[in-house]
Amino acid sequence: MRVTDESGSGCVWTAADAQTHPAPRVYALDIVVPDEGDPLVVDVNGARSGVEPQRLLHGDDRVQEAVLTPLAEAGGGVITTVSQTTPAPLQDRFCAARLRLAGSRCGWYEAADAYVPVGDPAARGREQLPAATARRLGIDYRAVTVDWREDRFVVLDRGKTCDLRDWRPEGIVWPYAWDQRVLPLPLDVPVCNPLPYSLPTTNKLLANHLLADVGVPPTRPAGLWLPGSPLLAEQAAGPRRLTVVKPAVGRRSFGVVLTPTERLPEIAPDLGLVSARAGLDRTAELTVLGLLWGQATELLALAQPYVPPRLRRHPETGAMHTSIARATVVVERDVPRCVDVCAFLVPEPHGSTRGGLMLTGAGGAAVVALADGEALEVRRAAETVVARLEEAVRTRLRGPSGAEIVRAEIGLMVELLEAGTDCPVDRAWQAHRDTITGYEAFDPGYTNERAKA
Ligand SMILES: Nc1ncnc2c1ncn2[C@@H]1O[C@H](COP(=O)(O)OP(=O)(O)O)[C@@H](O)[C@H]1O
Ligand SMILES: [Mg+2]
Repeated sequence: MRVTDESGSGCVWTAADAQTHPAPRVYALDIVVPDEGDPLVVDVNGARSGVEPQRLLHGDDRVQEAVLTPLAEAGGGVITTVSQTTPAPLQDRFCAARLRLAGSRCGWYEAADAYVPVGDPAARGREQLPAATARRLGIDYRAVTVDWREDRFVVLDRGKTCDLRDWRPEGIVWPYAWDQRVLPLPLDVPVCNPLPYSLPTTNKLLANHLLADVGVPPTRPAGLWLPGSPLLAEQAAGPRRLTVVKPAVGRRSFGVVLTPTERLPEIAPDLGLVSARAGLDRTAELTVLGLLWGQATELLALAQPYVPPRLRRHPETGAMHTSIARATVVVERDVPRCVDVCAFLVPEPHGSTRGGLMLTGAGGAAVVALADGEALEVRRAAETVVARLEEAVRTRLRGPSGAEIVRAEIGLMVELLEAGTDCPVDRAWQAHRDTITGYEAFDPGYTNERAKA
């Protein structure tokens, strides 16, 4: 709670219910509003989606404030942000040595590109806005970096270095560049978003699987398929004219492909989604290793129908543009509340080009307000989807430790890939399931009973 102190000159934050409720969660949803039918969520982003466009639209900082205030309440007035600074060569050593993927082609990306655990080293560019807003609100906003030294992770916290295993952060942790599958914190450290809730925001296949295709476009794993696969043929027989193929982990539209649905069988081999039997056996092994090391979302792709979004008029040119609604949702005491909605217009006027049909990473999207009725519709869709997703997280991604929660995610992914691809991933999982995971290797106090047995 934020209480004004007696002099009225400042404020004091108190941790209202940090002990009894898990940390708040924050989501930013990309939502297609079709001309007919209900809005559909195409992307569930996590706690650190930027709000600069909303700031331009409103001319103030209300969205950032609506996100920071509940975090400060949960953290007793302290927010600790974490970035991982491991330079690329060490990052490579950490991942490549363990993934043992080097040299083989694997899935959606070349295997060599398959490990990028936590984004650009020390990427801090977009930290200035939340930091300034937090300070204006009287929040103690602390930036901490995590580095890889020799053989362990260390935390650099206000001039002091300590082992990640021993670090007990103050306030609430709001990770900036941090993959919780790879760098664990004990489950009792309050993190926004906590590990199980962060998993579907970095794995679109998982999110849509947990939502059982309700409120989202029907989604299947894309590849790996055998040449002439009936599963691929089924995907190509879908009713929509265009199909979206996109990586399981999103990065500002990177790797999102639009293809004519009926031509998918012809195009899929070029996308690295079709392979002969021997290739599939090897890929199954690599996928399971990738899953165990928290890296598999880099290897996986999904397919879903392109749902044509409602067109909107560009406020400056008057031209009609494809538009994607953006809803920001904060969850406190397990109740989702949509704190803002707006819409992005894709950069090019509506047409058949990629830039006229979807948001691309190139930027240049205009941001506009939604009319009241539509805003209400988008709000409802956002809150409903978040509530359903969180309910599924609580029932299906449970575990006494981070390692077990990550294993629960892997179990669901294996089920999904086994049913929707030709990759014998279940056999590989049975062979590898007792292998130590990346998470366990750094989980404080973890003893690998399975590996010992
Ligand atoms: N099923 C879909 N129907 C219509 N447009 C889509 C669909 N999926 C993605 N898009 C478009 O592609 C963009 C990028 O996809 P998204 O899943 O949001 O990836 P990212 O995580 O990289 O942002 C979206 O903002 C939207 O414009
Ligand atoms: Mg998106």
